[in-house]
Amino acid sequence: MSELIDRYGRRHTYLRISVTDRCNLRCTYCMPQEEMAWKRREEILSYEEIIRVARVAAGMGIEKVRITGGEPLVRTDIERLLTGLRSIPGLRTIGLTTNAVLLKRKLPVIRESVDNLNISLDTFHRHRFIELTRRDALPDVLDGIEAALDAGYRNIKLNAVVIRGVNDDELCDFVQYTASRPVAVRFIEFMPFAGNSWNDAQCMPMNDMLNVIERDFELTRLPDDPSPISRDFAVMNRSTGLRHAGTVGVIASMSQPFCSSCSRLRLTAEGKVMPCLHSPLEFDLRAPLRSGADDAALARVFMDAVGAKPKEHPDAHEMLGQLNRVMIQIGG
Ligand code: GTP
Ligand code: 5AD
Ligand code: SF4
Repeated sequence: MSELIDRYGRRHTYLRISVTDRCNLRCTYCMPQEEMAWKRREEILSYEEIIRVARVAAGMGIEKVRITGGEPLVRTDIERLLTGLRSIPGLRTIGLTTNAVLLKRKLPVIRESVDNLNISLDTFHRHRFIELTRRDALPDVLDGIEAALDAGYRNIKLNAVVIRGVNDDELCDFVQYTASRPVAVRFIEFMPFAGNSWNDAQCMPMNDMLNVIERDFELTRLPDDPSPISRDFAVMNRSTGLRHAGTVGVIASMSQPFCSSCSRLRLTAEGKVMPCLHSPLEFDLRAPLRSGADDAALARVFMDAVGAKPKEHPDAHEMLGQLNRVMIQIGG
């Protein structure tokens, strides 16, 4: 089957698979204040359907999948999906992005099938965590991270969405967290999605973050990945001279987009292929899947999605005019 190369020569090797739109947290930057109507069970792809889609995608050059949500660990029996994905030839890497509330409990199975764990954590203050997520779960998240380290994960990425006036006073606390822990903290510029009340003033650009951090820490740029989404740095504490076990990075989607090297496609929980996180374009796989389509027909849906992929995402103001999905329904 043909490879997934778009009009601008970008080869797609990475598929983000959202397995549910549900979550056990209610992060303000991810979903609206009012309760959302979750998708019904029959609206979302079954594990068998996801595995079939992933097998077709692997045949087209997808080498890595990342399981997202909502929160993927709230979906029943997620281990069955992970094991199924593991058996697909060509899929070299399986990642999982989680809020870690249920991580400690699920770790034994996850350890067997997940290569890369990315964990969302935006604050170290319990009261602030409750304000941001509307749930009192910070101790579970911190325990989850320690348990993953104890289980031997050495490539954990910690995602902190930085919102000016909300948690930007904790940048150095996050950097300090990497002193003894071999984790990669990544500060994420706040992005607009439907219902998350984004505004310019709350989006702290990468350079402002780095200026704050560099007062206390010396940062040394690390080499980029082939399709980098973050700029990463080794850290040294200026006052103690201590070199940190972990690293820090910034995902500057708003101030310095990385669209030119994008290698990603997305599959939503209800079976739409999205060529770009910030574009309303979506291509349906569920109908063909459920009406007996063969693999070639499924592959054509991927080709259509890649063929329509925009060159880059628009600037924030144009983005605000075309928001159609809540973040929780895309999975990041
Ligand atoms: P790996 O590279 O597989 O470790 O994953 P990741 O860092 O891309 O995934 P993760 O789920 O940890 O997402 C981190 C942040 O990057 C989230 O805020 C995502 O919304 C954002 N992100 C992921 N992919 C893209 C993308 O294609 N474009 C943009 N603008 N942001 C993205
Ligand atoms: N801006 C930036 N990152 C976001 N995430 C969720 N909503 C936003 C947003 N509005 C991040 C979460 C999670 C990842 C999948 O996406 O923190 O780690
Ligand atoms: Fe749930 Fe993650 Fe969205 Fe927070 S960012 S509400 S943890 S899906």
